[in-house]
Amino acid sequence: MAAKVRTRYVCRNCGAEHAQWMGQCGTCKEWNTLVEEVRDRVKERGGVPAAGQGSRPVPIADIRAGEGPRTPLGDRELDRVLGGGVVPGSLILIGGDPGIGKSTLMLQTVLRTPGLSTLYISGEESAQQVKMRAERLGGGMGPGQGGNCFVLNETNTQLIFRHIEELQPDLVIVDSVQTLHTAVLEGSPGSVGQVRECTSELMRFAKATGIPVVLIGHITKDGAIAGPKVLEHMVDCVLQFEGDRDHAYRLLRPLKNRFGSTNELGIYEMQGSGLAIVEDPSQVLLGDRGPRPSGVCVAATLEGMRPLLVEVQALVSSAVYGTPQRSATGFDLRRLNMLLAVLEKRCGFRLGQKDVFLNLAGGFRVEEPAIDLAVVCAVLGSNADIPVPMDRCFAGEVGLTGEVRPVTRIEQRISEAAKLGFAKIYVPKGTKGLQGTGGIEVVPIGRVDEVLIDLFG
Ligand code: TYD
Ligand code: MG
Repeated sequence: MAAKVRTRYVCRNCGAEHAQWMGQCGTCKEWNTLVEEVRDRVKERGGVPAAGQGSRPVPIADIRAGEGPRTPLGDRELDRVLGGGVVPGSLILIGGDPGIGKSTLMLQTVLRTPGLSTLYISGEESAQQVKMRAERLGGGMGPGQGGNCFVLNETNTQLIFRHIEELQPDLVIVDSVQTLHTAVLEGSPGSVGQVRECTSELMRFAKATGIPVVLIGHITKDGAIAGPKVLEHMVDCVLQFEGDRDHAYRLLRPLKNRFGSTNELGIYEMQGSGLAIVEDPSQVLLGDRGPRPSGVCVAATLEGMRPLLVEVQALVSSAVYGTPQRSATGFDLRRLNMLLAVLEKRCGFRLGQKDVFLNLAGGFRVEEPAIDLAVVCAVLGSNADIPVPMDRCFAGEVGLTGEVRPVTRIEQRISEAAKLGFAKIYVPKGTKGLQGTGGIEVVPIGRVDEVLIDLFG
């Protein structure tokens, strides 16, 4: 047993050091900001390394850039989001709300990839629970299969490292980082100090052995406390697994990737037997495209690099109470209020005394402004009670003067709409390369009023 490592408590607000934990920082008087850290790490290892030890500066011209070999995980979406499989020695963090499907994703991936030997370290569920889940997932669990996946119930990092060294797996999964604890700190598992120190131990271990590690981390409600947020800068990749728990769709979004683009996006659907890759998301999202009541419009949005057509639904009705209600699901409420103000002030629609409800079908959340035009048309369609034909779709940002502003990658949006059989797409005026392909009519729009005349006369 190594000598007890001395620790200190550092204030995250002002950086002051304290010998013991206190609720309030004695220096800056902020509450709950002290985090336990290891001190004297250098002394612990026997002093400053002599010259010649460690790494040396190398001329950049002599460094061989070529990408190292990557290990594909067998799950097409996951591999693509990672930039083509896992890089040896990398540390990947998968963050998301509890119950969103992080354990399911990792377990089904390793079970369905027989060539990959994995150590699944479960601190949250017992080995039996993991087995039961594996049986539900079905993949690779037939007789003689699943032999490459080992399950370990352990939360002490030092013991975990010993098991990994013994087993030498191709991949290690830690479920979850909040359950780990290292002997060098006193804090309880899940505290900021423990989570950070365990992650940095895993990082050093992964780099030293070349064994890639996937860390699962829960995001707490406020996102900050002991959650993956404190780890983002420490790991190589951060994948966020998100979605509405009441809906089946799940998005896997890279927030950070040292080995690939962060513009990728994986889309899954939670089914009875695990997560299924959604082959053609727009098709699924739009469902059947029969006639709709008023207030429904299709927006050609972009998720990462992928065009995605989503249905925007609006309901406008006279306010029953004095103050009109505004509510938005999957869309920024402030942005909705801004668009309503534009319609009121620039286009002369009286929406001030109306309740406005907005919803994106399928539980999706869209942040990019190109959805504005569809939102505006859905709101006005509901207000006038005139349905918009379902073979139209929209892409354009709406500015404060009511002008329709250009959006990125318009060609991709147009071709996705054409692929799905839309007859007409409204796009911002002045965008280049507006040739309609595949029989779709491309209608350039300069101001919101123009699209309204075209739609509602
Ligand atoms: P889980 O992977 O345990 O979430 P996390 O690890 O992110 O906390 O997923 C839990 C949810 O997924 C749970 O509500 C049940 C559901 N689920 C299915 O619908 N189908 C399945 O095949 C599995 C394994 C889980
Ligand atoms: Mg889990």
